[in-house]
Amino acid sequence: MEGMTQSPAVATTQTEPDALDARDVSVTFTSHSRSLVALEGVDLRMRRGEFVCIVGPSGSGKSTFLMAVDGLIPTSGGVIKINGNVTTTPGRDRAVVFQEASLFPWRTVLNNVAYALELAGVAAAERHHTARELIKLAGLEGFESSYPSQLSGGMKQRVNIARALAADPELLLLDEPFAALDAQTRESMQSELLRIWDERRKTALFVTHQIDEAVFLADRVVAFGARPAKVVQEWTIPFARPRSIELKQSPEAHAIERQIWQVVHREGSRVSEK
Ligand SMILES: Nc1ncnc2c1ncn2[C@@H]1O[C@H](COP(=O)(O)OP(=O)(O)OP(=O)(O)O)[C@@H](O)[C@H]1O
Ligand SMILES: [Mg+2]
Repeated sequence: MEGMTQSPAVATTQTEPDALDARDVSVTFTSHSRSLVALEGVDLRMRRGEFVCIVGPSGSGKSTFLMAVDGLIPTSGGVIKINGNVTTTPGRDRAVVFQEASLFPWRTVLNNVAYALELAGVAAAERHHTARELIKLAGLEGFESSYPSQLSGGMKQRVNIARALAADPELLLLDEPFAALDAQTRESMQSELLRIWDERRKTALFVTHQIDEAVFLADRVVAFGARPAKVVQEWTIPFARPRSIELKQSPEAHAIERQIWQVVHREGSRVSEK
């Protein structure tokens, strides 16, 4: 068996394209003859199945970067590749979860989750089957016929995550998905997200202001600097998985959080000087 460690699996891993390969990405917003450089020279690569969190001061371009990766905002420079393919427009290989659960109020949980499959022309029986599985995965069994207005904030975000997974995307883009939740619900959603991510092994790019959240969730945390943003520093988060919420109380987690906080704080003061 020893000799088999040089297996073809290793070679495959080496040649497999990155799930995300963003190089030298710039975004400039122009309106009323004024232009604002939001991103300049952002480089970010993610292996398949990796969980990366982006932190950084408000206005540093985190959401802009996520939207550029999703193809909703045009880039003014650089190249974004998903699975080795250059991309400039939205596609089924990516799905976004926002802070505000953007569910259709007139659709049931089942039909919200099945929405992407409906768009893709998947037959009703099959899309409902897939949606029911995802609803179960998200811990919402029994709520298939409920409407969004009948759900709590945390439940809505569970539906949103299930909905994002429905089209089986390569890359999940999450922009402060738990920011509107109370602290307790937020912590349980962090654990739930890791459980779901572990089961489905998606590549996840997650923006947050909460440094403890980033350290708990991520394989790697990257910090965006003051505008025009780029990656100013990154940390590999060494904690084994599966992770339990107690990790957040450990001195090791606190030590990394402190380092990250210092960088974000420094960059935040640079923003306010502008
Ligand atoms: N559609 C737009 N048109 C013009 N400027 C924009 C647009 N969207 C964002 N910006 C500007 O780009 C910069 C980056 O904004 P962005 O929303 O990406 O920051 P962020 O890091 O996500 O901030 P926050 O942490 O507050 O969510 C800001 O200066 C913002 O005003
Ligand atoms: Mg934002």
